[in-house]
Amino acid sequence: MDINNSNVLITGGSSGIGKETAKLFIANGAKVVITGRDEIKLNSVAAEIGAIPLQFDIGDLASIPEKSKEAMALLEGKIDVLINNAGIGVFPILGEITEQNLVDVYTTNVFGLALLTQEIVPFFKAQKNGNIINLGSTASLKGFARGSVYAASKFAVRGMTQSWQAELRKDNIRVCLVNPSEVTTAFADEERKERNEENNKLGAEDIAQTILSIVCMRDKGFVPEVTVWATNPF
Ligand SMILES: NC(=O)c1ccc[n+]([C@@H]2O[C@H](COP(=O)([O-])OP(=O)(O)OC[C@H]3O[C@@H](n4cnc5c(N)ncnc54)[C@H](OP(=O)(O)O)[C@@H]3O)[C@@H](O)[C@H]2O)c1
Repeated sequence: MDINNSNVLITGGSSGIGKETAKLFIANGAKVVITGRDEIKLNSVAAEIGAIPLQFDIGDLASIPEKSKEAMALLEGKIDVLINNAGIGVFPILGEITEQNLVDVYTTNVFGLALLTQEIVPFFKAQKNGNIINLGSTASLKGFARGSVYAASKFAVRGMTQSWQAELRKDNIRVCLVNPSEVTTAFADEERKERNEENNKLGAEDIAQTILSIVCMRDKGFVPEVTVWATNPF
């Protein structure tokens, strides 16, 4: 797909992977709407990178139909790429998991992602093309100690991705799961503080480049899933 003049919606575009992806798509000529919970941060990042902000807590499930309409109005009714990036994580050990842990993580990572995508897919179907990038994780592939809540939510994202691939290929809609290993971002930081990039770890830019190259590929093919590791994290 040609990124120049394309329309893109990125959930959670106000920091980390979403922000770097927005920057890269904008640098390649796309119009990009970014969402986030913290409106002040969102507006400031949007102004910094030239994106269009839409304050939107994807965990507020009742607001999704209305917010989807607002996003599509900002994109003037045309969308080429939906990047389902907004995600949170908590890492309690079995025995310390609370109901709220499960509700919070599943509501954002799974329920919100599914319900938003469901609102956007009719536009892709009408256009007879579209791209959906779901942010999974290496935690979509393998559980780990303290991963009960987060890994389970990302396994769910993988299951939905594979189901949507089966449902949407006939409409020329490409669906891809991107599984980063550790990326130095504000992820899981309660104060939402960005981490400095580290030499031996992935940066948000590496995942942004991965996403761009997947979407850039000619429309006749698509990448169903890609996992990105740091070359030498030790
Ligand atoms: N960092 C890693 O090591 C890593 C590894 C594998 C996969 N991932 C996945 O990559 C994605 C992006 O993570 P990141 O590392 O870039 O994290 P991040 O720096 O914490 O950024 C997350 C973004 O999502 C937004 N967000 C969070 N909850 C939201 C909600 N309920 N509604 C709307 N926006 C929301 C945040 O905005 P606010 O700050 O305003 O909430 C922020 O813009 C996530 O799905 C994560 O699971 C991350």
